[in-house]
Amino acid sequence: MTYYGDYQTEIYNAGLAGELPKVPVNFKDLEARAHAAMPPGLVAYVAGGCGNEHTQRTNVSAFEKWGLVPRMLVGAAKRDTSIDLFGCKLPAPIFMCPIGVISLCSQDGRGDVATARAAHTMGVPMIASTFSSVPLEQVADELDGAPGFFQLYTPTDRELAESLVHRAETAGFKGIVVTLDTWVTGWRPRDLNLSNFPQLRGYCLANYFSDPVFRTLLEKSPEEDLRAAVKRWAGIFGNPLTWDDLPWLRSLTKLPLILKGICHPDDARRAIDAGADGIYCSNHGGRQANGGIAALDLLPGIVEASGTTPVLFDSGVRSGTDVIKAIALGATAVGIGRPYAYGLALDGVDGIIHVLRSILAEADLLMAVDGYPRLADLQPSSLMVVR
Ligand code: FNR
Repeated sequence: MTYYGDYQTEIYNAGLAGELPKVPVNFKDLEARAHAAMPPGLVAYVAGGCGNEHTQRTNVSAFEKWGLVPRMLVGAAKRDTSIDLFGCKLPAPIFMCPIGVISLCSQDGRGDVATARAAHTMGVPMIASTFSSVPLEQVADELDGAPGFFQLYTPTDRELAESLVHRAETAGFKGIVVTLDTWVTGWRPRDLNLSNFPQLRGYCLANYFSDPVFRTLLEKSPEEDLRAAVKRWAGIFGNPLTWDDLPWLRSLTKLPLILKGICHPDDARRAIDAGADGIYCSNHGGRQANGGIAALDLLPGIVEASGTTPVLFDSGVRSGTDVIKAIALGATAVGIGRPYAYGLALDGVDGIIHVLRSILAEADLLMAVDGYPRLADLQPSSLMVVR
C-alpha cells in the first residue's frame, strides 16, 4: 500500500543521489520562483486580485486561525483519503479549480492540455474553464477517462449557453459548474494599471470560436476578423443571472449542476431547492470583489445549509494542511487554484503533478501524525481556534 506521504521518501532518496526537487514543495518559494519565470503581465493577472487585495490575503490568513488537535494512539498507519463525488470515486478530496488563462501559464501556451494530462496521471479532477486555448472536446480527449467538469460562464445568448453545455455533455464531462460571481469583472488594479485583459486580446476564446452557435453570430469567421469576433464575444460574455434563470439552467443538462460562488446559507438553500446538485463555496480567490470576508469563514454556514448536498470549496488553499482544515470544516472536496498554475509555469505537466503530490503528501502526513486516518474523522471539533 502506498500513501501520498511516501512522496517525501522519494524526495529524500533522490537527494542521496544529489537530486533536488526541480520545483519547490512549499507555496512561498513556489510563488516566488514562478513569478520570476513568468512575464510581468501574466504575473499581474494570475496573482492579482480585487481592490487592495485584502480579501485574497484574508482568504489565506483565515486558515491560520484554526489548529488541528493532535490525537495519539489511534492507529493512523493506514489512511484513506478517497471520496465519492457525483458518482466519481476519487483517490483524494481535491480538484483543480477552473483557471481561465491556464493555457498562458504554460511555456508552450497549451496549459489546458497540460492540466488535463496532470489530471489524468493523478486522478485529480480538472474543472475546465470556459476560457481555454483549445476547444473543450480536446481537453476531454486529454483527460482520457479521468474525471473532468466543465465550468460555464453563462453568456447572454441562451442558445450559445445551451450549445456549450451540450458540447461538454457529449465530450464526457461529469458535471457543469456554473460560475455566478463573474458576469462582470471585478476592479483589478494590477491589470488596470497594465491595461491588460487577456481575452480582449483574443486569448483563451477557443470554446467560443469553435462553437457553431457563436460562429453564426459573426459576419466573418474569427480566423478572418479576430477583432470583430472578440468584440462580439465581449458583447455576450456576462449574463447577470437571477433566480428566475435557474430552472432554465437546470433544464439544460442531466449532469450534476454545481453553482460556484455561493457564500450565503440562504443562497445555498435556495439553490438546492431549485435543483442544484452541488454548492461551490468560493470568492473567486478574491479576484472579483474585495468584500473582506475570507471564503473559509463562510464555509461552515454553507455546509450547515447544504445538508447532504456536496460542498466544494476554494479560495486561499496553499497547502495540505489547508486542505485538511477545509475538510474538517465540512468541505466535501477542496479546490487548488493558483498553486497549480505556478507548478505549470515552472515545469509543465510535471510541475502540476509535483504541486498536487506535495499538497497531498502534506495532507496525508498530517492525518498520519495527528491521528485522523479517515477523512470522516476530521470534524469541526477536531479544530481549535488559535489565539
Ligand atoms: C480564476 N478563477 C476562475 N474561476 C472560474 O470559475 N472560471 C475561470 O475561468 C477562472 N479563471 C481564473 C483565472 C485565474 C488567473 C485565477 C487565479 C483564478 C477562480 C478559481 O477558479 C478559484 O476560485 C480561485 O483561484 C481560488 O483562489 P486561490 O486559492 O487560487 O487564491
